[in-house]
Amino acid sequence: MDTYPEFKTTLTPDIPLSGIVKCTVPSNIALVKYWGKKDIQIPQNPSISFTLNVCKTETSIEFEKKQVSNEDYEFELLFEGKLKPAFEPKIKSFFERIEAYIPFLKEYVFKIETSNTFPHSSGIASSASGMGALAYGLMLIEKEINPDISESEMLQKASFLARLGSGSACRSIEGPMTVWGEHKEVAGSSDLYAVKVEENEIDSFFKNYQDTILLIDKGQKEVSSTVGHNLMHRHPYASQRFKQASENLSILKKALKDGDSETFIKIVESEALTLHAMMMTSMPYFILMKPNTLSAIEKIWEYRKDTGSKLCFTLDAGANIHLLYPEAESEQILDFINNELVVYCENGQYICDKIGLGAIIL
Ligand code: PMV
Repeated sequence: MDTYPEFKTTLTPDIPLSGIVKCTVPSNIALVKYWGKKDIQIPQNPSISFTLNVCKTETSIEFEKKQVSNEDYEFELLFEGKLKPAFEPKIKSFFERIEAYIPFLKEYVFKIETSNTFPHSSGIASSASGMGALAYGLMLIEKEINPDISESEMLQKASFLARLGSGSACRSIEGPMTVWGEHKEVAGSSDLYAVKVEENEIDSFFKNYQDTILLIDKGQKEVSSTVGHNLMHRHPYASQRFKQASENLSILKKALKDGDSETFIKIVESEALTLHAMMMTSMPYFILMKPNTLSAIEKIWEYRKDTGSKLCFTLDAGANIHLLYPEAESEQILDFINNELVVYCENGQYICDKIGLGAIIL
C-alpha cells in the first residue's frame, strides 16, 4: 500500500454541505521519457516534460453531503455532456488508491463533468490531463475544507494524487516544465510527485516553445502504456535504459540552461526513438509507429539539413509526432507542415499547441 503520512489529512466536523469546483489541466509531452515503473506508479527513472497549453481537460466537480453516511463512493461521471458508466471503474479504483489522502471521498455524492479540448479519437492520450484535472479539482475541495493549506502544498499534493491516477499526469499540474523522479541535480525532485523547473533554469530560447502535433493515426493503440511499462520488468536492456535516462536528463538540463539547441535536438530525438526501441525489443515485442511516422521523420531531418532550422520531433506511446520548435520559426514551419507533412496525417489533421503553465482554476 502507498502510505505517505505527509499527504494525509483529517476531516474537520464542519465540512461544507455542498459546492462546486472547476479547473482545467493540460496534457504534457516528455522530453526524457518515463517507461518502466515499480510498486504503485513509482518511476524507474526520472523524466522531464513540457507542459502543454491547448490540449487540456476541463473538469467540474459538484459535491453534496450524503443524507445518510455509508461506505460507498457515490458519483456520476459525464464526459462531454453524456453519462459514461464505462469510465466509472477507473474512477473507482483511483478513489480507492487516494482515499487515505482524501478523507472526504465517502462523505459526498459527486457529479463529475469533464471534457477535452482535443478530439476524443485523436490518438492523444487524455489520461494525463484527465487525471490531472480530477486530482487538482479534488484539491480545490480540500482547500475549501482546510483553507490553511498553502498554494505550494496544494500543487504538490495534486501532483502526488495525479500520479496515483496515471503516472505521467503528475507532470501536468505545473509548467512550463516539470521533472518527475529523483535526480541528484534537481533540487527537491521526488518519485512521488513532479517539481517545476525554475524559470531561471530555462534559457529564453525555449520560452514559448511550440508543439505541433501531427495526428498520424487516430485509432486506439494496440498496446496500452500499462502493458508497455510492465514489459520493462524482464527487458534485456532495462537497467542500461534507466541509467541512460538519468544521464540524458543531466545533459538536457544543461542544454536548457545554456540555450543549446543542438544538444536539445539530439537528446529529445534520441529519447523518442529509444522509447520506441524499448517497445520493439520487449518480449512480446510491438510497434506503435506507423509507416507515415517514419516518412514524416525523414522529411523533418531533410528539412533541418536544408534550412538549418531548429525543428525536432518527439513521440509519445503512439504513432503521432510532436514537432517542437521556437516561436520565431512558426511561420516557416507551418508552411513546411502544410506543404510536406499533412499528407502523412490522418484526414490532414494536426493540432497547434505550445508550452503552458499547468492547472488553472475556473
Ligand atoms: O503515464 P503513462 O502510464 O500513460 O505513461 C506515459 C509514458 C510516455 O508517455 C510514453 C512517456 C512519458 O514520460 O510521458
